[in-house]
Amino acid sequence: MDNIPAGGIAGTGVAVIGAAVVGCGGISATHLAALRALEGEGVRIVSLYDTKPGRVEGRRAEYGGEAAASLEAILDDPRVQTVHILTPHALHAGMVRAALDAGKYVLCEKPLATSTDDLDELARLDPDNRRVCCVFQNRYNPATQRAKAMIDGGELGEIASLKGMLTWKRGAAYYADDWHGTLSLEGGGVLINQAIHTLDLMLYLGGPLRSLKASVTVDLLEGVVEVEENAHIVMRYADNKTGLFFASNSNGADEPPEITIMGERGWLLLRGDRLCLRDGSGERLLVDARVAPTVGKAVYGNSHVTQIHDFYRCVSEGRPFAIGVKEASPAVRAVLAAYGSSRAGSWVSLDK
Ligand SMILES: NC(=O)c1ccc[n+]([C@@H]2O[C@H](COP(=O)([O-])OP(=O)(O)OC[C@H]3O[C@@H](n4cnc5c(N)ncnc54)[C@H](O)[C@@H]3O)[C@@H](O)[C@H]2O)c1
Repeated sequence: MDNIPAGGIAGTGVAVIGAAVVGCGGISATHLAALRALEGEGVRIVSLYDTKPGRVEGRRAEYGGEAAASLEAILDDPRVQTVHILTPHALHAGMVRAALDAGKYVLCEKPLATSTDDLDELARLDPDNRRVCCVFQNRYNPATQRAKAMIDGGELGEIASLKGMLTWKRGAAYYADDWHGTLSLEGGGVLINQAIHTLDLMLYLGGPLRSLKASVTVDLLEGVVEVEENAHIVMRYADNKTGLFFASNSNGADEPPEITIMGERGWLLLRGDRLCLRDGSGERLLVDARVAPTVGKAVYGNSHVTQIHDFYRCVSEGRPFAIGVKEASPAVRAVLAAYGSSRAGSWVSLDK
C-alpha cells in the first residue's frame, strides 16, 4: 500500500493533517489504528468525542489524542482538518452537515444518511466529492477490484443477472444497547446495517437499478427489535439485468457475503475477499485475499485501512474521493426503496 505523502494538505499551509473521531464505539478501534499507522506520514490524532466519556478514555489510553468536550468543540478547533463520524446511523447526516459548515473534511461510516432528503442535501453541499467520503471498504477488496475490472473489460460478455447474499447472526444481546434495533437511530435492520455493503457491491458491479420489489420481516426477535431481521429483494437493473438479494441476521454464524455475477462467457463467484471464475472448463480461483484484519471482525473485510489511507491521500493531494455522496447514495436509496416496497407490497422505481 502506498503511504500518503508526508506534507499535510497541498497548497494550504497545513503541514500535518489533524484528525478527530466522533463516536468511540466498536468501529473506532479500526479507524484509530489506521490513523496511528499514518503518524509520521503527515497525519495525527488530535481529539476524540463520545457522549459516553468512558469510551473516549478507553480509546485515548490506546491511541492517544485529547478528549473533546463536544462535537462543537471539535468543529471549532483549527487544529482539526478531518472528522471521522462513527455514530448511530440517524446522526450521520446532521453531523456531516455540521462538519461541512465548519470547513472540515469528513469520513463518515455507512450509511451516509437515513433519508433521501438528507442524501439530496449532502449531494448539493459536496457535488464533486472533495469534502465527504463514505466508508464502503469492501469496494477496495482485491477480489472486488478484480471482478470490477473483468466486468468492465467485457471478459464475461453480457451479464444477465446478479445474486447477492448475506447471512449473519445478530441475537438479542447485539440489540441490547441504546440504538441498535430502533427505527429512530439505526433506521432499519439487516439491510441498512449489515447487508448494505453487499448491496453496494451489487450496484458497484452491476450498475444502477431501475426498480425493485422487496419483503422484510422480523422473525426470531419479534417483540425485541423494531427493525427487520430478514429481507429479500428482486431487482431490475437500468439495463434490464435482473438481481436477487437475500439478507439475514437470523443465521447461526457470520458467513462471508456472497455475490454471483452471471455472464454469457462465465460466472464470477465472489465470497468475501475470494473470487472464482466458473466457465466451460470448470472453476478456477482467481483471487484469495482473505487475511484476518489486525483490528475488527473478519467479516467486515480487510480493506478499512486501505480506504482510510486513500481518504488521506486524497485530502493531502486535493483529489476527489472515490466514494463521495454520489457513490454512497445508491445503496441507501435501494435500502429505503426496499422498506417502502415491503410496506406497500409493490414494485418501487428508483429514478436516480
Ligand atoms: N464499515 C464497517 O464494516 C462497519 C462495521 C461496524 C460498524 N460500522 C458503522 O460504524 C458506525 C458506528 O458503529 P459501532 O459498531 O462503532 O457502534 P457503537 O454503538 O459501538 O458505537 C457508536 C458510538 O457512538 C456514540 N454516540 C452516540 N451518540 C453520539 C453523539 N451524539 N455524539 C458522539 N458520540 C455518540 C455511542 O456512545 C457509541 O460509543 C455505524 O454507522 C455502523 O454502521 C461500520
